[in-house]
Amino acid sequence: EEQESIEQSLVGKRVLITAGPTKEKVDPVRFFTNHSTGKMGYAFAKQAASLGAEVTLISGPVSLDTPRGVYRIDVESAQEMYEKVLEHYENQDIVIKTAAVADYRPKKSYSTKIKKQSGELEVKMERTNDILKALGQHKTSQFLVGFAAETTNPLEFAKQKLEKKNLDAIVVNNISQEGAGFGGDTNIVTYINGKGEQINYPLQSKEELAKNILQHVVNELKDE
Ligand code: CTP
Ligand code: CA
Repeated sequence: EEQESIEQSLVGKRVLITAGPTKEKVDPVRFFTNHSTGKMGYAFAKQAASLGAEVTLISGPVSLDTPRGVYRIDVESAQEMYEKVLEHYENQDIVIKTAAVADYRPKKSYSTKIKKQSGELEVKMERTNDILKALGQHKTSQFLVGFAAETTNPLEFAKQKLEKKNLDAIVVNNISQEGAGFGGDTNIVTYINGKGEQINYPLQSKEELAKNILQHVVNELKDE
């Protein structure tokens, strides 16, 4: 039905994608999360599937339909995402980590509702596992693509993440730019690979962007 599916450059490839936010519970009614809607990750899943890949999508809580032909696993917390991603990591060819994983979770999660009291409430937070960093450490032959959301010095911070997490490429979003980042149907990004090459992708739909980046990754895989 779609013309793009004529071009099957990912046939025989396994692609793992994470998408959406994570949700970190404080008590049965309250949680911490972020502005991610999952659109960028779902666009990657859809485009990878239409290029012929076998796609596993590990998704935080979002209100999007599963793209056709995609195997979707739902998770809530960063810890659950960590476990599922590592479980499915081994025989992947390409891993794309668009998820906006919470960096902190409440140190204590209460099984009954916290009742309001007079005065202030303090919630102690602790660090979650860095999933992408763990993937970089356990990397065998996977092509590992991270995302970075930045409001200042995007290229500089992204390059640091690329190196620290042992990635093959990073896609950086300057989320303070109009038309980029959370929620919308468009994005503006820069792709940086391990060789230090940079590609600027001007304002375009998340669908187009996902397809263009995947095509580029396919070419990088061929050159290896
Ligand atoms: N990431 C992850 N696990 C975490 C935090 C982040 O896998 N606990 C991944 C994201 O999915 C993304 C990349 O790391 O692909 C970069 O996320 P980002 O929030 O931009 O960077 P951080 O390393 O978390 O650093 P900071 O938020 O301080 O900028
Ligand atoms: Ca973060």
